[in-house]
Amino acid sequence: MKPIKKPVIAGNWKMYKTIAEARDLAGAVVEGFPGVREATIILIPPFTAIQEVRRTVSGTEIAVGAQDVFWEARGAFTGEISPLQLREAGCDFVVIGHSERRQYFGETDETVRQKTLAALDHELIPIVCIGETLEERENGQTLDRIRNQLEKSLFILDESGFTRVVLAYEPIWAIGTGRNATPEQAEEVHYFIRGLIASRYGKTVADYAIILYGGSVKPDNALSLAREKDVDGFLVGGASLEAESFLGIAREALRAVRD
Ligand code: PGA
Repeated sequence: MKPIKKPVIAGNWKMYKTIAEARDLAGAVVEGFPGVREATIILIPPFTAIQEVRRTVSGTEIAVGAQDVFWEARGAFTGEISPLQLREAGCDFVVIGHSERRQYFGETDETVRQKTLAALDHELIPIVCIGETLEERENGQTLDRIRNQLEKSLFILDESGFTRVVLAYEPIWAIGTGRNATPEQAEEVHYFIRGLIASRYGKTVADYAIILYGGSVKPDNALSLAREKDVDGFLVGGASLEAESFLGIAREALRAVRD
């Protein structure tokens, strides 16, 4: 039987929102939060707005995350932000290996591995993104790509490290394109990921692993995706920039659990 897990709905605001706008958006999510209390809600603003969002959600169970992290705690690394600094600013989570970082900023499975280890060392929960390009999908290489990413960046962790990681399957062709994976496409990959986790860490760890789907999630496609057995929640980009659509997705994910 599938363990009952709280759906996780994380909003990646990317390079949007000034501090004032971030405060307004977080405030609107706080207002709607009682309706989605049974979901784990994570707001992931740009670095500059983390403290303000943290303040705005204080006293609620809404969590705050960052969009990236460096692997050293301190040092002469101009422009980087350390896990220690993220903890102090109020983060509980950090996204690692988002495809935009891989595509535009040279992130590799090796840097994802280093960042994941550093995040865990500082008690940040990594949300590690994996996913294939359109070309890889069309060439039938999706599952190989996923296996490769997992083996290189995550399966080096011991069990206690791995159980603290959240995974996000984000097919690159579905990010920001309005073209989401179908529920069947998402489930095929999530099921495959869970199977790989089971072979590496055992069935119990696999059953409890949290695997989010990301890529053009909206209130009107969230329910059918969330109904898939191995989809445990969402990493939302565009639709997280408005409280109404973000909370709408959370409500649909809860409906899928209740039905
Ligand atoms: P999207 O982005 O929802 O705008 O497709 C998802 C993501 O990048 O995490």
